[in-house]
Amino acid sequence: MFIELFFPTVIGVSDFDKTDQIEKQYYPYLQNLKNKYSRNGTFCYYEVHKDPFFKELTNWITGEVNKFSDKFNFTDTYIPVESWFNEYTKGTHQSVHRHAGSVFSAVYYLKGSENGARFVFKTPLPFDNKNPENNSVKKNNESHLNQFSWTSASYAPKKGRLLMFRSFLEHSTDTVGDEREQRLAISFTFDKK
Ligand SMILES: [Fe+2]
Repeated sequence: MFIELFFPTVIGVSDFDKTDQIEKQYYPYLQNLKNKYSRNGTFCYYEVHKDPFFKELTNWITGEVNKFSDKFNFTDTYIPVESWFNEYTKGTHQSVHRHAGSVFSAVYYLKGSENGARFVFKTPLPFDNKNPENNSVKKNNESHLNQFSWTSASYAPKKGRLLMFRSFLEHSTDTVGDEREQRLAISFTFDKK
């Protein structure tokens, strides 16, 4: 027997090498923006990619997203079209959503940790009415499965880490359980130049 993997769900992961420097530089500035523009204290629709202050990070992310698009053999160049940031505190989370109007999405963790509330991708496959393992709301354990059978995949919000994915992919975040956990994520969407 041989197994083939057509139509996979592709996630790109890159780590920035100036993590601490960029955090020190950007965090106070983002705090000011949050105080000025955020309506709920978590989500702040501020177009980071249009502000020259964030040029270094925006350029790096744009480069990584274009390397990611090369993996698909896509021929266009991609540029950021929207951006925003979220600072999560205890009890907050993001429910399942996708980013309409763009080809790629990218999330960068300016602050975060290996054991913080996770970023969760949902399978783009249709709902499996009779999943062979009989998972249910009550019994939601996929740990014994694998990349052929998982229905979600999650990532720790590691500081300096960038996650890249096609924008149609539904995603959410787990709820922050610890008030000491600081997590600030900057999100970008990309479209053809
Ligand atoms: Fe999102």
